[in-house]
Amino acid sequence: MNFLNIDDLSREEIDDVLTRATDLKERTARGKTADGMDGQTLGMIFEKPSTRTRVSFETGATQLGGHAIFLGPDDIHLGHGEPVKDTARALSRYVDVIMARVFDHADVVELGEYAEVPVVNGLTDDAHPCQTLADLLTIRERFDGFDARVAWVGDGNNVCQSFVLGAAIVGLDLVVATPEGYGVDDAVLERAEELGSAPEIVADPQAAVDGADIVYTDVWVSMGEESERAEKLEAFSRAGFQVNEDLLDDQEVMHCLPAHRGEEITDAVMESDRAIVWDQAENRLHAQKGLLTYLLD
Ligand code: CP
Ligand code: NVA
Repeated sequence: MNFLNIDDLSREEIDDVLTRATDLKERTARGKTADGMDGQTLGMIFEKPSTRTRVSFETGATQLGGHAIFLGPDDIHLGHGEPVKDTARALSRYVDVIMARVFDHADVVELGEYAEVPVVNGLTDDAHPCQTLADLLTIRERFDGFDARVAWVGDGNNVCQSFVLGAAIVGLDLVVATPEGYGVDDAVLERAEELGSAPEIVADPQAAVDGADIVYTDVWVSMGEESERAEKLEAFSRAGFQVNEDLLDDQEVMHCLPAHRGEEITDAVMESDRAIVWDQAENRLHAQKGLLTYLLD
């Protein structure tokens, strides 16, 4: 199976992946390995930069007794030297699982259609399901389940859209505040409704944050949106979407990272105890291991 969207997994399957992640988190501390990928290879395609996704997948493969190959934009022919479907079929003859970070979501769909091995979405312009797995793991650890209220404050982007779907599947109480024109796609909200419930949508970030246990944000200018930078910074700051001490009460703060201090979040919040972003980043590693063993089993 492929993992292109968080709702490719059912509630039971997400629980299975998270339970594997928790188990592997305990068993594969630094220097210790498990045998979930014994001798197997992960091919990692990156059209965009990455710190966490690249390093957590590569380290995760090592900790599982496997191996990962980094395939950057100048390393392979994907999309420019040959069609995506040809890369999918050729890579399938070498590696056991493919992870891809690309711009166009249609490209991971095409990889998934033509690959003979599982394909994992490592972020597209539309979705970041691996991030959602780590986010759910982080929340599950802190709340011993999903009985929590989360406020998304910021862009209704890839990270937000996958989190909206993940929240609907596990039953998180989610409120989303986005500036006008930067909301979650209607199709995603409809999918969330079908999966359990669509989030509450508000325009005022303070209204979203009040009463929440966790506030979650992401950059205002995502990779590939550089030409919209001035326009987006103006729209988000004018509407008061920065996560700063004035906005918060006693909430913890999540951020998928990288963070742009001074834009969507302040340095003071990032450096405060309320920021649980490093646990969240670490959990990328464990969630990825849970996912890899699930897909390869
Ligand atoms: N959160 C996340 O995917 O980070 P990277 O871009 O560093 O992989
Ligand atoms: N929304 C961000 C997430 C980075 C992990 C981006 O797409 O650049």
